[in-house]
Amino acid sequence: MSEKRKITIFDTTLRDGEQSPGCSMNLAEKLEVARALQALGVDVIEAGFAIASPGDFEAVQAVAGEVAECTVASLARCTEKDIDAAIRAVKAARKPRIHVFCATSEIHRTHKLRRAKEEIIRMSVEGVKMAKGFCQDVEFSPEDASRTEPDFLVEVVTAVIEAGATTVNIPDTVGYAMPAEFGDLIRHLRAHVPNIDRAVISVHCHNDLGMAVANSLAAVRAGAGQVECTINGLGERAGNAALEEIVMAIQTRHDFLNVTTNIRTQKIYPTSRLVASVTGLNIQRNKAVVGENAFAHESGIHQHGMLAHRETYEIMCPEDIGVPSSKLVLGKHSGRHAFKQRCEALGYSLGDKQIDHAFEKFKVLADKKKDVFDRDIEALIDEQMELVTEMWTFGGVQTVAGSQTTPTATVVLLRDNQPHTDAAIGDGPVDAVYEAIGRITGIRPRLTDYQLRAITSGKDAQGEVTIEVELDGKRFRTRGVSTDIVEASARAFLAAVNRAAMSANHVPDKPPQP
Ligand code: KIV
Ligand code: ZN
Repeated sequence: MSEKRKITIFDTTLRDGEQSPGCSMNLAEKLEVARALQALGVDVIEAGFAIASPGDFEAVQAVAGEVAECTVASLARCTEKDIDAAIRAVKAARKPRIHVFCATSEIHRTHKLRRAKEEIIRMSVEGVKMAKGFCQDVEFSPEDASRTEPDFLVEVVTAVIEAGATTVNIPDTVGYAMPAEFGDLIRHLRAHVPNIDRAVISVHCHNDLGMAVANSLAAVRAGAGQVECTINGLGERAGNAALEEIVMAIQTRHDFLNVTTNIRTQKIYPTSRLVASVTGLNIQRNKAVVGENAFAHESGIHQHGMLAHRETYEIMCPEDIGVPSSKLVLGKHSGRHAFKQRCEALGYSLGDKQIDHAFEKFKVLADKKKDVFDRDIEALIDEQMELVTEMWTFGGVQTVAGSQTTPTATVVLLRDNQPHTDAAIGDGPVDAVYEAIGRITGIRPRLTDYQLRAITSGKDAQGEVTIEVELDGKRFRTRGVSTDIVEASARAFLAAVNRAAMSANHVPDKPPQP
């Protein structure tokens, strides 16, 4: 077999992924994710859309200053202001890239840009040239390429390569393409763009019809050299192609695809957990590769087959993607050293202070719960990571509820170590708790989603509450964990209040009273 072609993995979790509703990350979280992506071995990190907001600009700049092994890209439209912001943001990167885009499909030309074909080509070429004035590495995306007339796409791609684009990215922006059709489009470009050998063909597929990974792999088969993807498939609407699925398909079916990547696959699971924790977007249990059920075998026939020979029913080893092997671990007699080792085995690299804090929480939990499982530890650390920006800390909650009483909650929160207490009634105990938190903090986000699940089995299992709230047009997803589900609900809501409080333009409806 011929030597395997190397596919460039371009991760856009921090840009397109962050565009998932409710998935915004703060600067510290973005840096944490960027470090994890570097450790994972991605080739390019798209750190943001520098012009979009001061927060985006700052994040791209911080990632560019911190991440040395990967190329760091910023997105920009084909305008001077956008490109200037992108250039300033990635300036400190050891390997900077400017990624400019311009929509090319008829529907976008007519209704969004109101420009004729010639103007689209002119804007695209000027954008690429402007970016090229700063760095060699320039990527161009004809937005909505899959719905663009193929001959016009050929013209645009030829012109931007002539102008200096080193990567041409073909997005299936609305997730409309079918795999065979998308593969044919890449073949069409390879056959008809005369200077195509001077650029890498990239693909960027959305998942509206569940085809993002299939389309990306069809494009790879047709000769694409770069795949754009996100951890856990985050992204606009139904998301982008999931990095973990692309990479594991390439690894598992190298016989068929005959390509390879630089990804250190053992880092996939910890990175996936990290992204789920900072975005608050839980991974569906049956999600390919990283879902909780991905390596669980329920039926007796399957279990028997597995015991006889693992490969009867498993095409990947959990260890290959970094799923920790042992499940049951610690109890209340476990020490800090054993706890730290377990955290490391689960893929977390925590500083001494973070370990101290997590260990304290572990001890409290181990007092309530006989066996502490990996999932308990993950939940505990995930929750702690969400609290990086906490303004208010949880002090305690007491509720009175029942079928014949008006549900009442008393909540204690701490701010600068000062306790603030208030009580409220509600439709149920959780509603009363949320009302009391609103009264104390003056921040009253609207609850748009509430989910409760048990982290492990057994009556003493911890409950994990994941919520989504909306405030001032921004959505935040957070979680709270406790053996008491009312407390878990309170913690999740408080994390959301803290996020909202840190978000730039929110003014509480009343100043906090001690
Ligand atoms: O989906 C899309 O078309 C994009 C481009 C900006 C690359 O995200
Ligand atoms: Zn996109």
